[in-house]
Amino acid sequence: MPRDDDPTTMHFGGFVEDRLVVSASFYLASAPVHEELVSYQLRFMATDFDVQGRGYGARVLAFALDALREEGAAQVWAYARDTALGFYVATGWNVVQGSEHLSAESHLPHTTIVKSLVEGA
Ligand SMILES: CC(C)(COP(=O)(O)OP(=O)(O)OC[C@H]1O[C@@H](n2cnc3c(N)ncnc32)[C@H](O)[C@@H]1OP(=O)(O)O)[C@@H](O)C(=O)NCCC(=O)NCCS
Repeated sequence: MPRDDDPTTMHFGGFVEDRLVVSASFYLASAPVHEELVSYQLRFMATDFDVQGRGYGARVLAFALDALREEGAAQVWAYARDTALGFYVATGWNVVQGSEHLSAESHLPHTTIVKSLVEGA
């Protein structure tokens, strides 16, 4: 992605021994809700098929959100693939009501999700 090497972009990976099995990248980008907050967009959240359902995705996300909070982020958001919405709800994200749409890239159903990283945001 063009912004992969931006100084504000943060990439996270989860390893089992020396194999990268989980990825999550965050790009500084104002959110569709609470535009005034310092926000990062999550993209490329994925766990390798053969190790899904073991808690690795949740663990990498928790680590990433702690690191983003330390960088001053107040909110994270994403265009979540609808088939993964249950994962995000299980890890504390909120669905933006009425945001359901088809991705222009993949043409798959997506919904906007958001998670606050600070009290009262
Ligand atoms: C979605 C994805 C990243 C989840 O990663 P994972 O490592 O398998 O997730 P975890 O094992 O950490 O699951 C954490 C929780 O979410 C739940 N969960 C995971 N995937 C889910 C799904 N697709 N639907 C409903 N719940 C789900 C788990 O049951 C678990 O709940 P629990 O804590 O109550 O047991 C992974 O399934 C994936 O890569 N899918 C294909 C790519 C994709 O859709 N990426 C998201 C694009 S927006």
